[in-house]
Amino acid sequence: MKAVIIQYSSALLLFLSILHCHAAVRRYTFVVDEVPYTRLCSTKSIMTINGQFPGPTLHVRQGETIIVDVYNKAKYNITIHWHGVKQPRFPWSDGPEYITQCPIQPGAKFSQKVIFSTEVGTLWWHAHSDWTRATVHGAIVIYPKKGSSYPFKKPDMETPIILGEWWKKPIMEVYHDMLQSGGDPNISDAFLINGQPGDLYPCSKQDTFKLMVEKGKTYLLRLVNAAMQELMFFSVAKHKLTVVGTDGAYTKPLTRDVITISPGQTIDVLLEANQKPDHYYMASRVYASAVGVAYDNTTTTALVEYAGDYTPTSPPPLPALPYYNDTSASVNFTGSLRSLASKKYPVNVPKKITHRFVYTISVNSFPCPQNSCAGSNGGRLAASVNNISFVSPSIDILQAYYQGINGVFGARLPDFPKYIFNFTGDNLPAYLDTPKKGTEVKFLEYNSTVELVFQGTNILAGTDHPMHLHGYSFYVVGWGLGNFDPKKDPANFNLIDPPLQNTIAVPKNGWSAIRFRAKNPGVWFMHCHIERHLSWGMDTAFIVKNGGPPNTHLLPPPPDMPRC
Ligand code: C2O
Ligand code: CU
Repeated sequence: MKAVIIQYSSALLLFLSILHCHAAVRRYTFVVDEVPYTRLCSTKSIMTINGQFPGPTLHVRQGETIIVDVYNKAKYNITIHWHGVKQPRFPWSDGPEYITQCPIQPGAKFSQKVIFSTEVGTLWWHAHSDWTRATVHGAIVIYPKKGSSYPFKKPDMETPIILGEWWKKPIMEVYHDMLQSGGDPNISDAFLINGQPGDLYPCSKQDTFKLMVEKGKTYLLRLVNAAMQELMFFSVAKHKLTVVGTDGAYTKPLTRDVITISPGQTIDVLLEANQKPDHYYMASRVYASAVGVAYDNTTTTALVEYAGDYTPTSPPPLPALPYYNDTSASVNFTGSLRSLASKKYPVNVPKKITHRFVYTISVNSFPCPQNSCAGSNGGRLAASVNNISFVSPSIDILQAYYQGINGVFGARLPDFPKYIFNFTGDNLPAYLDTPKKGTEVKFLEYNSTVELVFQGTNILAGTDHPMHLHGYSFYVVGWGLGNFDPKKDPANFNLIDPPLQNTIAVPKNGWSAIRFRAKNPGVWFMHCHIERHLSWGMDTAFIVKNGGPPNTHLLPPPPDMPRC
């Protein structure tokens, strides 16, 4: 009898362990720490994850859930955001500070559940607290489900290519200087490819990132624009780039010499090593369209080095990149992205729209006493959505919404601009410069279908704005230069194969139209991914209400939400 019981229980144990194995959620540890880093001949202390810069790449499968234990051992507050991960019904670990959580304070820990669903390809994670994301970021690689494959030729090898931006000064000083002066922040000292400036900068030769290739093979470059302030052009000398995905969704193949990538965006490209064995530069520099706004005009490089016995050309060929303010090069690329829209990868763009919005996005300024600030006309630079400059609350909106705490946010973001003017006209009157202030959001019923037009304006200086929405991917159904015409433009919307994105660069003095179905309840931040514009208030949020059945409700908060 005894023996039987033992046998039985060991069988049960085996069964349980198999069960456990299947249900096992993979866990990662992120330790936020400060470490000295040397770039451009000088050393400073930067915040990193696990001492790595860029931070560790997460490798997951489509539909997987993981847990990341974030320990803050640095001296600044931090939060971590999983950019482009929709986190169905679980905004609690989305990350934007004072939107879905209070920051993780020095010494504190937060275990973040990251719930992948339909995303596939490349996304990234980054800090979402003040300007700490400058050095706290990394790639997320999402492989197709087991048993399924890429809708393109399987690459022989792959690598993240993370574009970054580097200041010799500590980033929090750059940030505080900007807040103090009220003007533009100092421009950066370098751009980076995988943490390295490349050998066009001083003291950078030996650390330049190198991609070793073999002739005849295909390489998947998972591009991430983690730069703080700039849209970037990217190219590889003498090679074509074939785009196959963006923002965690596949695209129709698009072959180009140069691509444009905006802050926040990810682009997957195939590089065929089909040239004469040699060394070739890959290079990136800004696409900066605002007239009169200073920008870092340096070029970051990395090397593509073919295997074999040969004497490399010296210096290696450098790719031709568009002129720094070449808007048509940028929009021609961004406007050419298309979804696969096949049987296997269908497009689900909402056709019947329940909510239409037009949001103007502007750079503004507030008056300063005695015109003593460093912004235009002695003012303090600001930014707005429908003329409201977002003010960050002191407890998070998600908590306030969930617990019914009043006075934290309002729901008065207008559906349409309150004043109609020639948004993209020249010499706009000065009274348009000054926006209102507020913490205003928009409520959406569960399952409503939204069409949102972002309208750029020429207040102070027109420029491109990469607008990013948390908790969703949206279809980019149209764009144009000048003012959106609600009578004519919708007739040309692409409802057949629009790209599915989470960040869209609204062109300078132009507009972009997006559509999505509000089926993810929660509080979801929406903002420009140019860091100074975010800080100045080009932000708002959607609060998507619960649906009817319980499986359309917000999940409860985890027990260890950081305290305010
Ligand atoms: Cu990648 Cu709210 O950001
Ligand atoms: Cu912007």
